[in-house]
Amino acid sequence: MTSLARSCFKLRGRVIPYLFRHRLVSNIVRGYATKYPSEVRVVEVGPRDGLQNESQFVPTPVKVELINMLSRSGLRQIESTAFVSPKWIPQMADNQQVMRGITKRPGVTYSALVPNLKGLHSAMEVGVQEVAIFGAASETFSQKNINCSIQESLKRFEEVMKVSKENNIKVRGYVSCVVGCPYEGDITPGAVSEVAKALCDMGCYEVSLGDTIGVGKRRTMVAMLEEVMRLVPVERLAIHCHDTYGQALVNTVTAMEFGISVVDASVGGLGGCPYALNATGNLATEDLVFMLHGMDVNTGVDLNHLVDAGVYINQCLGRKTKSRVGEAHMSRQSSGA
Ligand code: HMG
Ligand code: MG
Repeated sequence: MTSLARSCFKLRGRVIPYLFRHRLVSNIVRGYATKYPSEVRVVEVGPRDGLQNESQFVPTPVKVELINMLSRSGLRQIESTAFVSPKWIPQMADNQQVMRGITKRPGVTYSALVPNLKGLHSAMEVGVQEVAIFGAASETFSQKNINCSIQESLKRFEEVMKVSKENNIKVRGYVSCVVGCPYEGDITPGAVSEVAKALCDMGCYEVSLGDTIGVGKRRTMVAMLEEVMRLVPVERLAIHCHDTYGQALVNTVTAMEFGISVVDASVGGLGGCPYALNATGNLATEDLVFMLHGMDVNTGVDLNHLVDAGVYINQCLGRKTKSRVGEAHMSRQSSGA
């Protein structure tokens, strides 16, 4: 043993307790274990993902007012409607009226879902500047949701991408069923990374990973994220969690630990996918923002304005909010506290 090694060995009895007493070890470990982004871009999907599953048609002025209220909260990106077939999703049939009706705030992107060229052309007629194409990691879900195979969907998306590029329209991508499918059960991480990479390669500036039916657990999210990040850089990924088992916040934090800094959420926890029967709402935007601010993660969103938007839409729908933060806020207000 060298003399240096011998001295270290003798000192261990004093140095190690010192490090623990002054929390140096736990701070170092925590610093390495939890490196969250300092800022998160919240993508509000309530007006689209949140409302698409409502059985009663939500009047266009209500949708417009919801989007206007959300705009005032400081959100920079609001997925406002979908240019999909009204036979498949009747709730989104007023897509053009919604886009024409909203008061566009500078600095806010009002995007829309499009499945094909027909949807893109319709979106372009009303000046949509950003669209989202949506694929899946499950063959059966792809068939049920957009009536074609994964390969066929990618071909359609190439066409959408080409015309979008020619017209300076930004394109975001979604991969649904990233951990589980309502028809096929567990989904392998490799199936997700393949579709995510294909969307990136064709030109999506960002790909949102959708836990469509909210079955993700920390373990399955970690396995999926590890695989996807082998093929897609983290700067081009977003996370989109539904909250069926109350795991959406945890799964979002897991994604943030991997460095993902774009999170989709839906005001009031509205939502569900009509072709994913078990899916409940998305992660509630109010709960997400409340948690992020508590972690000192900046969002630029004013929680009070957001809560007001959640109260408004839930009152219009005649139901209780699914946001815990929204609920707490309302009961404080009604008790006069
Ligand atoms: P299809 O029936 O195979 O389409 O549907 P088609 O090309 O054979 O056309 C049939 C009819 O639809 C024709 O009309 C077309 O003109 C019309 P007809 O001649 O019978 O009168 N059509 C359209 N109309 C308006 N806009 C369009 C459009 N395209 C065709 N864009 C299609 C294929 C993709 C259109 C259909 O399956 C569809 O609209 N699917 C959308 C399903 C959907 O919106 N699902 C929910 C969103 S995905 C989601 O929520 C997941 C996500 O949140 C992430 C996650 O949570 O994982 C994004
Ligand atoms: Mg969704």
